[in-house]
Amino acid sequence: MIVITGASSGLGAALAKCYAQDNEALFLNGRNAQRLDRVAHQIQSKKPIQAHVANLSVPNEIKGLFDALPQAPKMLLHCAGSGLFGPIAEQDPNEIKQLIDNNVTACILVLQEAIKRYKNKPLTLVVVMSSAAQTAKANESTYCAVKWAVKGLISALRLELKSSPIKIIAVYPGGMNTDFWPTSGKALDTSSFMQADEVAYMLKQALISSDNGYISDISIDRG
Ligand SMILES: NC(=O)c1ccc[n+]([C@@H]2O[C@H](COP(=O)([O-])OP(=O)(O)OC[C@H]3O[C@@H](n4cnc5c(N)ncnc54)[C@H](OP(=O)(O)O)[C@@H]3O)[C@@H](O)[C@H]2O)c1
Repeated sequence: MIVITGASSGLGAALAKCYAQDNEALFLNGRNAQRLDRVAHQIQSKKPIQAHVANLSVPNEIKGLFDALPQAPKMLLHCAGSGLFGPIAEQDPNEIKQLIDNNVTACILVLQEAIKRYKNKPLTLVVVMSSAAQTAKANESTYCAVKWAVKGLISALRLELKSSPIKIIAVYPGGMNTDFWPTSGKALDTSSFMQADEVAYMLKQALISSDNGYISDISIDRG
């Protein structure tokens, strides 16, 4: 079974479609129940597709999500996240707090709960960050800050989990044409950006492993 967070929209929804083609049992998460159900119902699969609404920045809701899993997953794709852009002087402190909650708090709590429960299982944790975790960008200061924080989290956890069968895979996508932009306060034409389906297809190809190795860091650039 594969767990996908942020599956009500964008990359998470596209990954759900992609993995359903392989008849994988899926457990999908988002906050917006209507959108999440729409994604789950659009997917054709012979295996169960479950949808679970939870705000991942709330500890009890994360616990509820993991309690609802019918079995230990083999992979968790953490796509949930949000953006906030513009000069720092113009950013609303409440929106900055939300940005931190959706990107840093949610990721810390999801990884914490997964590691608590499955430390001795061969679980692959795939964490979607951004090219903004690799390169500083003007007018993206707080977005860079949260994505760099997640990169730091992953780097330290990899060391902590050295003797565990858990693998953590870091993903750094460039611009995608998703709902992310209209909700992030950056008005720009994203029609030439990568489509979520293309990125999902490339990411799935890269998430291969052999008995003795796997691809640990994945950059997906526009071009
Ligand atoms: N689009 C880009 O250009 C781009 C580029 C690089 C990296 N990224 C990153 O890629 C990831 C996916 O982005 P996307 O483009 O697919 O964006 P999107 O279409 O806006 O989807 C974001 C998803 O995250 C969920 N989410 C956000 N905060 C959450 C929370 N606190 N709890 C649970 N779910 C939450 C949303 O759920 P609801 O809608 O149900 O609330 C939605 O399903 C994000 O981490 C983003 O930072 C995006």
